[in-house]
Amino acid sequence: VVPKAMQPLEEEDELDADPSKVKVTVFFGTQTGTAEGFAKALAEEIKARYEKAVVKVVDLDDYATDDEQYKEKLKKEALAFFMVATYGDGEPTDNAARFYKWFSEEKEGDPWLQQLSYGVFGLGNRQYEHFNKIGKVIDDQLCEQGAKRLIPFGLGDDDQCIEDDFSAWRDQLWPELDNILRDEESTPAVATPYTAAILEYRVVIHDSSAGLHENKQLNMMNGNASYDIQHPCVVNVAVQRELHTPESDRSCIHLEFDLAGTGIKYETGDHVGVYAENCEENVEEAARLLGQPLDLTFSIHADNEDGTPLGGSLPPPFPGPCTLRTALSRYADLLNPPKKTALVALAAHSSEPSEAERLRFLSSQQGKDDYSQWVVGSQRSLLEVLAEFPSAKPPLGVFFAAIAPRLLPRYYSISSSPRFVPNRVHVTSALVYGPTPTGRIHKGVCSTWMKNAVPLESSHESSQAPVFIRTSNFKLPADPSVPIVMIGPGTGLAPFRGFLQERYVLKEEGAQLGPALLFFGCRNRRMDFIYEDELTKYEDEGVISELIVAFSREGPQKEYVQHKMMEKAAQIWEMLSQEGYLYVCGDAKGMARDVHRSLHTIVQEQEKVSSSEAEAVVKKLQMNGRYLRDVW
Ligand code: 2AM
Repeated sequence: VVPKAMQPLEEEDELDADPSKVKVTVFFGTQTGTAEGFAKALAEEIKARYEKAVVKVVDLDDYATDDEQYKEKLKKEALAFFMVATYGDGEPTDNAARFYKWFSEEKEGDPWLQQLSYGVFGLGNRQYEHFNKIGKVIDDQLCEQGAKRLIPFGLGDDDQCIEDDFSAWRDQLWPELDNILRDEESTPAVATPYTAAILEYRVVIHDSSAGLHENKQLNMMNGNASYDIQHPCVVNVAVQRELHTPESDRSCIHLEFDLAGTGIKYETGDHVGVYAENCEENVEEAARLLGQPLDLTFSIHADNEDGTPLGGSLPPPFPGPCTLRTALSRYADLLNPPKKTALVALAAHSSEPSEAERLRFLSSQQGKDDYSQWVVGSQRSLLEVLAEFPSAKPPLGVFFAAIAPRLLPRYYSISSSPRFVPNRVHVTSALVYGPTPTGRIHKGVCSTWMKNAVPLESSHESSQAPVFIRTSNFKLPADPSVPIVMIGPGTGLAPFRGFLQERYVLKEEGAQLGPALLFFGCRNRRMDFIYEDELTKYEDEGVISELIVAFSREGPQKEYVQHKMMEKAAQIWEMLSQEGYLYVCGDAKGMARDVHRSLHTIVQEQEKVSSSEAEAVVKKLQMNGRYLRDVW
């Protein structure tokens, strides 16, 4: 046991011990880790610049257990920064959902945050309709409650280079923080520009004959009381089949995960998160580029041998010891374009000076345009970049800490109902496959894994994956007699297949089903009309009133679901007028936006109201939870 005096001071102790210290809290709302990374980088830099600052990075979910506690704790903050992402249909990240729900609605009474100075940086993507909504709402609400905005809201746009947006926002912050945190006697901090240290794990190489327990490791994950993104459950692939006909030049996979004995529960309309593995070809290429054998057995550690933590803000290490093959398959994102911080780390480990220089240029402010064209615009994967800089041979501790981000789970709208198939989760996955501007064929990690998955049906050595459920509010009305309109072209059909299974069970149990329209869209009846037999059967049995299909590549003109909606305008409006629900699932940028416009037109024409009145009606439907979207 380390005596208390020798332990690093806890934040509160440090503040108590020295009244000149100032507490700074950096909150994050993250889904893929970018906001968390920014929060940690900001915290590190504040620490490095200002001796006075006692900085803490806080996951919004961990901050408080209930609304009251959020309020009490926030009232005590003096200086706070929020790095918050918006995702999907203008939604908060899972770890910010509870905070956001409470905070965005906390409007009563007098302003209660007058003691607080703050800054908000939002992470979003301009291609989406609700660009950075969550950050904006938090920023406005902080201001409304009397807090002092130190710096304008930061609009991070992942469509361009979000690291640059973050750097620019941060640079505006220093003059403000100098006023608050710089000691009068110290020299101005501007003199030394801060450069972040390159993160690196401590690596231990193991004797490969020691015997590995990798699959035991996977199985040890099971047996939790509940599963989530950090505690997934390993399940078998029970069924896998192609949904497109051989005539189609694309692929869409129907996959079933076996839940028997796992205790996993889900509801119709939920999502499943899947941890897939990189395909062998890419894993082998990565090891070759790193100059390391695939059977090398190693482990990574975020602490020194004596147990003291390493500096910087290292992500939690993955479990080891494991082989390099396993580490590259399960934990490394190899196909996304590398971040600028990754290029800096690569430069530091390039033996060829011209390569190091080019990498540094690409990550610099002057190289901004090159980075955005050569890396982001041409979708150069990390593997491609490694191949273009053959002298770059980062050690594994650097590669996994600073260069290859962790491979994240992919989410799918579940295409089954637990009431119909109690021990299965069905997934409907379109294969992501196509050329990038450099001529590389991009193969999506998870959809490729699903395409190659071996089901229990055909082998005892079936494929397995760690999975977990993410709940959603995309749910059928509690009363099955309420009318519903479903719009889901392509794999947007997925949750509706679950809805239909559920309605089928309800009907069997004697429930009175209300009218239901299903709009589906695909290219061609002979190629990609997925689940055609099931859908027509459900129509014949009255599980849905009508199946309406738009074939986009059969006739001389494109026909899309929104065109079919216009043909049924009167019926849709009548159903919605009877307290009906409207659901949309699928592509956010094109389809869902166009469907939204069509809905607006339908309301305007059917109700004979102005455009702004129609907009208010649509808004109200959304607010009442009767217009629901599951879009990506
Ligand atoms: P397309 O590929 O022929 O353009 C499922 O992907 C179906 O959705 C396809 O028939 C596809 O047509 C169609 N689709 C593409 N863009 C769309 C949009 N903006 N709105 C509605 N459907 C769209």
